[in-house]
Amino acid sequence: MTNYKLKTISTTEKNLLNKQSSWYAYEQSISEEYKEFFYDELLFDLARPWPLEIKDCKFFVGSGKDEEEKDDDRWAFRGHGGTISVNDYPSSLKNIENWEYIFNKYKPKSILETGTNSAIFGFLCYKFLGNDFELTTIDCEPNSKICVDKVNEYFNNDLIEFHEMNIPHDLKDFYIETQFDFVFIDSGHDEETLTAELEFCINEDIPIIAFDDYSLPQVDEMIKKFLTDNTNYQLVDVFNGISGSGMGDIKIVKRDE
Ligand SMILES: C[S@@+](CC[C@H](N)C(=O)[O-])C[C@H]1O[C@@H](n2cnc3c(N)ncnc32)[C@H](O)[C@@H]1O
Repeated sequence: MTNYKLKTISTTEKNLLNKQSSWYAYEQSISEEYKEFFYDELLFDLARPWPLEIKDCKFFVGSGKDEEEKDDDRWAFRGHGGTISVNDYPSSLKNIENWEYIFNKYKPKSILETGTNSAIFGFLCYKFLGNDFELTTIDCEPNSKICVDKVNEYFNNDLIEFHEMNIPHDLKDFYIETQFDFVFIDSGHDEETLTAELEFCINEDIPIIAFDDYSLPQVDEMIKKFLTDNTNYQLVDVFNGISGSGMGDIKIVKRDE
């Protein structure tokens, strides 16, 4: 029998975790079905406060004036942990289950992700879609590339392609031949960024759009506006994460066939 044990991290980094719900607190009771995920050293590494030991992100976690502060005792990536986080085992489990369901239902092949972060979504693509997908992923954070390269290397393939860009400024000029069949919108979550993302979706004729964090009022407003302006798209799925966690609230809209 495999003797599962979570990877050890430094005490400083461990102190950044919420001890009540971090994976360490659940180490003995991690779900049988998804044990392989939670004890996977790379997934653990991507979901920890300093993914792959990266601490010096250009855009690190913080808000308002604190964002300018340089503090070693902080999570490295801005917006980290929205999909899977070592800080929250129950929500991570729920999100893994949801994404397994979404991938099985929609079977996407040419995927676009806005907001790469530490490449956790790319890891899930390999796990659930095998080698039958290609993912283009974009982020303004240059360190996301290190994570993407690591995930590709780990799965011994090159199915994830990273592009560094500032979405509101650069996305309109992004030219790519790929015809996407699915987009996961998970970057800035503000009106300006979402507007640029949705214009791109319409121009590129992407039939399925998954919005993360629809529980943020500005995101849900944009979804409503999008459905009003584009009556050939319908809301087809709504997923709710664990209440109050801020993780796993996803809405999916689909273009009429
Ligand atoms: C919530 S995280 C993405 C999580 C990731 N999709 C996952 O599943 O783990 C949001 C990411 O969006 C990026 N982001 C925010 N604003 C952006 C912008 N204007 N242009 C490009 N990327 C942006 C941040 O750097 C951050 O890495």
